[in-house]
Amino acid sequence: MAAEIISGKLISEEIRGNIAEEVQVLASKGFRPGLAVVLIGEDPASHVYVRNKEKACHDLGFYSEVHRLPETASQEEVLTLVNKLNSQDSIHGILVQLPLPKHIDEKAVLNAIAVEKDVDGFHPINVGNLVIGDDSLLPCTPAGVIKLIKRTGIEMSGKHAVVIGRSNIVGKPVSLLLQRENATVTMCHSKTANMAEIARMADILVVAIGRAKMIDASYVKPGAVVIDVGMNRLDNGKLAGDVDYDSAREVAGYITPVPGGVGPMTITMLMKNTLLASKRLNGLV
Ligand code: GUN
Repeated sequence: MAAEIISGKLISEEIRGNIAEEVQVLASKGFRPGLAVVLIGEDPASHVYVRNKEKACHDLGFYSEVHRLPETASQEEVLTLVNKLNSQDSIHGILVQLPLPKHIDEKAVLNAIAVEKDVDGFHPINVGNLVIGDDSLLPCTPAGVIKLIKRTGIEMSGKHAVVIGRSNIVGKPVSLLLQRENATVTMCHSKTANMAEIARMADILVVAIGRAKMIDASYVKPGAVVIDVGMNRLDNGKLAGDVDYDSAREVAGYITPVPGGVGPMTITMLMKNTLLASKRLNGLV
């Protein structure tokens, strides 16, 4: 029997509805959460992502600023802007869209963002808090992945979760969040031997390896929850995940589509983080 589809689109809409309601209540008290996005250069995908973030802010009633800097912007200019946003009261969340142009030191920029406004959860202090299990702003895509798994109603505690991919943005943090849910976690990556054999042991399989349609049914345990974080543009212009959806869905119990799976959850979690940061900065939680 084909897998049940986990619709990140529908789950996102529901969560965004709750966020919008909370923003309205705050607005009635004269307060508005604010997000600043910094975009440097001309990467077309980044421009699309940033437009989607801007639209989400508008739709949910957030204050937003998008700072579009040219490819030639100096590191000094970027750091000056980040510092200005750090001390701007109307801004509670700051996101610097990655990747940055080669001449800019990504670490220096991410480290300059105020920890309490780091709604991407990429600052080393937020990463450290995630590792030791302390309260922190969680990275958006991994937080969205956990929400999607929870929505299946499948208990994570005691289950075997396999994460394919070890990036700082997805693989590593998602493995920590799965451990926090008491799953037993195995990490696979591009150098892993016998990857299909390991993946087939997974009750929960999270795939973020960046290779279109690499994970087919031979990697999937019957009934498993399969979460596809991949977002690859095919030669025909279509989007595809890292999972071969048509093949894997014949074996999986639950599966996320691409598009409409993890993607919408990332922005939803960004909005949730910005709302949380704004309440914390104003002593409302
Ligand atoms: N580029 C691709 N994904 C992300 C993300 O989650 N955050 C930022 N800042 N840049 C990205």
